[in-house]
Amino acid sequence: MGVVIAGKNYETFAEKYASLLGYELVDIQTKIFPDGEYYVRIKKPESISGNKVVIINTMYPRQNDSLLETLMLIDAARRSGAKDIVVIIPYLAYARQDKVFLEGEPVTASIVVKIIRTIGANALVVVDIHSVKTLEDFNGKTLNILVSDKLVEKALSILNDPIVIAPDKGALHRARYAAERHGLEYDYLIKKRDRITGEISMMPKELRIDGRDIVIIDDIISTGGTIANATRILRSHGARKIVVAATHGLFIGNAFEKIRSAGVEKIYVANTLGITHKEPLIETVDVSEKVVTEMRNNNII
Ligand code: R5P
Repeated sequence: MGVVIAGKNYETFAEKYASLLGYELVDIQTKIFPDGEYYVRIKKPESISGNKVVIINTMYPRQNDSLLETLMLIDAARRSGAKDIVVIIPYLAYARQDKVFLEGEPVTASIVVKIIRTIGANALVVVDIHSVKTLEDFNGKTLNILVSDKLVEKALSILNDPIVIAPDKGALHRARYAAERHGLEYDYLIKKRDRITGEISMMPKELRIDGRDIVIIDDIISTGGTIANATRILRSHGARKIVVAATHGLFIGNAFEKIRSAGVEKIYVANTLGITHKEPLIETVDVSEKVVTEMRNNNII
């Protein structure tokens, strides 16, 4: 027997997860104290004792609040006698600060996974984390679920034998994962310097893309700069139709405009965030079934 508890950012998908898992959904009570501090309580603590507890919450928007709420829920579940606590965070905040880029910086991604573990989580499940290495710091059972195959599956309905392109080498594993599952070619963009002029240009490492349809794959769209830039480069190399498959679509500021004006025809994102975008360019793909299936296949539940 298991129960699901959802944080505020992800309550829209709580019932779906509970039904996919076959677990009971237990509500929480929340309030803000007059001084601004947050309060949370599991409404039926008696249903927790001796049971497996799946806590699901996502960390965008309101990253800090959501992180604290998740920790509070883990602590409450542990104190209520949970046998085993699995935490699902479809979007892990601070994942891009995964190393010290400049001396004096913290590795925030590491802090986030370490505190989740310390407070009492036995397992941590994330969707397409920026760098899978971060999960090593959890020091327990973890699962990173790639969903680029699901996004590309949707994209295939409007494309003709596309090439899957990663905007940089770091995203190549996402492109490979989706491409291999759909029998497509894949590549990534590299920077090249002209030895005579010193000018830097970007181009696909191996493949010719003129006249070809393209799916650009990435983990996060934040300001849209990376995707807009990659799209322009691919257009300048003669690409035909360009669509984007990005797991976490934050779309900060004028990201839509940037991406649209660069020439992207459609953007597929996963339902990993606590917001949905009312923008015709975007299609949100529900990946909850894949998350639960992968959790089963990896003996997390
Ligand atoms: C970078 O390493 C990430 O994988 C994304 O490409 C990046 O975070 C996207 O950010 P933006 O949309 O602001 O270019």
